[in-house]
Amino acid sequence: MWFGTLVIVISCCFSTLYTEENIPIVVTTWKFINSTVKAWEVLKEGGEALDAIELGASVCEKQQCDGTVGYGGSPDENGETTLDALIMNGKTMNVGAVGALRGIKDAISVARHVLEHTKHSFLVGELATQFAVEMGFHRETLVTPQSKEMWKKWFNEDHCQPNFWMNVKPDPRKSCGPYSKQSSKKYDEDIEGHMKVDRYNHDTIGMVAIDKNGDVAAGTSTNGAKFKIPGRIGDSPIPGSGAYADNTVGGAAATGDGDIMLRFLPSFLAVEEMRRGSSPTSAARVAVERIVAYYPDFMGAVVALSKVGKHGAACHGITSFPYVVHDTTQESYKVIEVKCS
Ligand SMILES: *[C@@H]1O[C@H](CO)[C@@H](O)[C@H](O)[C@H]1NC(C)=O
Repeated sequence: MWFGTLVIVISCCFSTLYTEENIPIVVTTWKFINSTVKAWEVLKEGGEALDAIELGASVCEKQQCDGTVGYGGSPDENGETTLDALIMNGKTMNVGAVGALRGIKDAISVARHVLEHTKHSFLVGELATQFAVEMGFHRETLVTPQSKEMWKKWFNEDHCQPNFWMNVKPDPRKSCGPYSKQSSKKYDEDIEGHMKVDRYNHDTIGMVAIDKNGDVAAGTSTNGAKFKIPGRIGDSPIPGSGAYADNTVGGAAATGDGDIMLRFLPSFLAVEEMRRGSSPTSAARVAVERIVAYYPDFMGAVVALSKVGKHGAACHGITSFPYVVHDTTQESYKVIEVKCS
């Protein structure tokens, strides 16, 4: 009894004494280095985490990172690019998000305007565009010669393969639409459909930042899934799914097969696991394993950052997952490659 008490006392005081805060810090999904460097510039100068997230993700929107962020990538079935973005303030637990945003390149900045200039949290589609224009954003086409070519090849040469339809006629595995519904007893068997999400079809930028005041912010930006059905919104702009932030715990961001991931709120789950005392790595693992239990073939990753600046990630369905960290412990950014389950 006595010995047990002693151990508890020691572990209490050691952890108190040696909890070094590694802030400010930013972590970013994949190898989106330019965005990370931009966010770090903001944080290093004493700037706010929210600004770091907005300006950092904006870099990827402008540079069309991997073709999966920003304009001119991932055309939908009509050949149009639409954008999804989220920004979350972990101090106020306020959120700004846009989904299926048309004709505006600066998705995360529009999300920031939803956060700061409305009492709402989420605006979508053409009506989000109207809001953005009222806020002073410039409307322009998001189609580029490259995205037009991509769409033409899919439509003309590949006969609309792959696509996201099921239980419709004509057979979506062979034909383009328009489709009409067809009931099928094989619904469960077909639940995964036939669309294999490849690496360049899921590279959402997700970022979590903590500024010098300990304020946590998180955000995402993406142009969604290639050849999505128009109107589709993935996990990225959904609070708790694409990203989540809570000053009292930390934050998390997720990337991968968004249609599946958003059913599990993996970023929220990772933050809640850290709240219960898990390390960022095991918190991320719990969030990923929850999805794997239902969808063993799913592809995705979660990166988690605790409020003291410890970080970790977990992933599934690919060999490894890289994320970028920038903090005061090193002169430059660092890419960390996590082996996946
Ligand atoms: C990063 O930014 C530099 C200069 O702005 C640019 O040349 C480079 O292509 C960018 N890297 C990526 C991966 O987009």
